[in-house]
Amino acid sequence: MPSMSSTNLIFVVQEGITVRRWRQGDEHELARHANNYKIWLNLTDRFPFPYDLKAAEGWIEMTSDQTSWQPTLSFNGITPEETKEAFEARQKASRIPTNYVICDNDNPIGGCGLEFDINKYARSASMGYWLGEEYWGMGIATKVAFGLLQWGFDTFPWLVRIEGDAYSWNKASIKVLQKIGMQREGVFKLKAFKGGKYGDIHQFAKIRDGFLPEIRE
Ligand SMILES: CC(C)(COP(=O)(O)OP(=O)(O)OC[C@H]1O[C@@H](n2cnc3c(N)ncnc32)[C@H](O)[C@@H]1OP(=O)(O)O)[C@@H](O)C(=O)NCCC(=O)NCCS
Repeated sequence: MPSMSSTNLIFVVQEGITVRRWRQGDEHELARHANNYKIWLNLTDRFPFPYDLKAAEGWIEMTSDQTSWQPTLSFNGITPEETKEAFEARQKASRIPTNYVICDNDNPIGGCGLEFDINKYARSASMGYWLGEEYWGMGIATKVAFGLLQWGFDTFPWLVRIEGDAYSWNKASIKVLQKIGMQREGVFKLKAFKGGKYGDIHQFAKIRDGFLPEIRE
């Protein structure tokens, strides 16, 4: 039987740095790293500032909520012999969380994850990531984002595209998205408003390698 730590591990980023599931006990380190205006300035407004212990507790509770977890089986994965109920039960059992903590020696140093809007876009997900400031500039985010991209396509065989976007002023994140092989698909003018100022949003995406779509004309 796998140990708790191995079931929680999502992938190894580099020696000592891992991506694993959030768990109770992560709250203090989460709040310590996340409570940073410079981080808030580069994330959507769902990420609070100040980021206090209560916010950290709320986040860990939310990521533990299994109703928000994603099924790894596609909606179209029903087999001809299977009843709808049996498929739904199988799909429910395949749900996993998709928000994770980046760790140094198992201690939280940031967050990353895939977000799905499955009721609107069945085959697409978007990625997000942030790191505590003391860990910036070491190449960690690039490796995390690359790992997440591979993990996402491996874990969700029905997923066709993974998106990432960044505010126009966030040169480091734009670089990360380019370095992991995403293509810039567009720029949303003045969609970003943070700290009283406007900017654009640069939208990137990676399509699954070798995917041959049947296009509806
Ligand atoms: C964006 C963020 C995740 C980058 O993390 P990181 O681990 O420092 O990134 P990396 O070390 O992998 O660097 C990525 C690239 O950006 C470059 N870079 C870093 N800061 C930069 C800056 N201010 N201007 C231009 N390029 C910059 C690095 O040099 C590197 O490119 P290189 O390999 O060609 O030298 C981190 O700064 C962060 O958490 N910021 C706040 C939250 C955030 O922006 N999240 C992403 C939202 S889209």
